[in-house]
Amino acid sequence: RHLLSLADVPAAALIELVQLSLWFKHQVVSHPTTPPPLATIDRLRGRTLALLFTKKSTRTRLSAETAWAKLGGAHTVFLGSNDIHLGKGESLHDTAVVLGSMVDALLARVHAHADLETLAAQMPPHVPVINALSDRFHPLQALADLATLVEMRGCSPAQRPGADAFVLPSVDAIAAVFDGLQVAWVGDANNVVNSLALALPRLGAGVRIATPRGIEMDADVLDRLRHVDAVGGHAGAALRARVVESHSPQEAVSGADVVVTDTWTSMGHEDGADEARFAGFTVDADLMAHANPDAGFLHCLPRKGAEVSDAVFYGPQSWVWTEAQYRQFTKMAVFTWLMGIGRP
Ligand code: CP
Ligand code: NVA
Repeated sequence: RHLLSLADVPAAALIELVQLSLWFKHQVVSHPTTPPPLATIDRLRGRTLALLFTKKSTRTRLSAETAWAKLGGAHTVFLGSNDIHLGKGESLHDTAVVLGSMVDALLARVHAHADLETLAAQMPPHVPVINALSDRFHPLQALADLATLVEMRGCSPAQRPGADAFVLPSVDAIAAVFDGLQVAWVGDANNVVNSLALALPRLGAGVRIATPRGIEMDADVLDRLRHVDAVGGHAGAALRARVVESHSPQEAVSGADVVVTDTWTSMGHEDGADEARFAGFTVDADLMAHANPDAGFLHCLPRKGAEVSDAVFYGPQSWVWTEAQYRQFTKMAVFTWLMGIGRP
């Protein structure tokens, strides 16, 4: 009912959400100036999405508001922390009760992940809470990364959204993209890699994570892999074994099909940040040379700078603009899934 982390999403639903995202992309890019013919439109008519954001956002806010509008939703209400009483005279609990009495869905970007659980606990049964980024997870970002991977690595020309005689890839075809895929993460141990780690191994992909010494993945997050389902059934310890940690960017990237990074200093962690620890972790052409020749590059954005060279970020291996645009289509998929509308 809520989407607080990708551990909340069954493995089969992850694939269906990716498929639905490709379908929405095709609808939107094929009808750029007219509303797409979405069967969901009537069902979201009159419904309101609230966006409660205690941190800045470009993509998540923009994609949520445009996705809701493209689905025919009535209103989005943006509630930034400078505009509402939250944190300066009203408790999260009290804010949550009032929100739940007036809106139909809540997208929330918070510092402490536990705040999302507080919000979710106060919602009436028909109001889903969706994580728009917390200190621990960024599930909507990871979904956009999955969809980008499928479009860039798994689609024939006819399966590319926007193709004249578009053929939606089957769930089996999508599952095949992830089976045996090698994903390298280079950089901080943060909310984005936590979310990728809770999705990719369940789809059959390997994840090799290189962080600087002293910056380690949260063992509690990786341990969750022992308790979530996977394509083909529960995999337990074997799933956890698909995530390999090291402190060597070269080792992580060696033989990778895609290389992923993010800022070295996440929002809310600016105090005491020491980016000198990331020396040698810039994703540049030399590092990409260790990956497979057709490997792609992903970054959730915003790009701060030193984590990736201009040559890679703006180069032919970069998929970052496709990835950013997918934020809208994956939101359309998540909204329809969580609002009980189902496949259009
Ligand atoms: N990737 C992402 O979540 O971007 P914003 O912070 O701009 O929303
Ligand atoms: N890890 C980053 C992602 C920003 C979209 C942060 O939390 O600031």
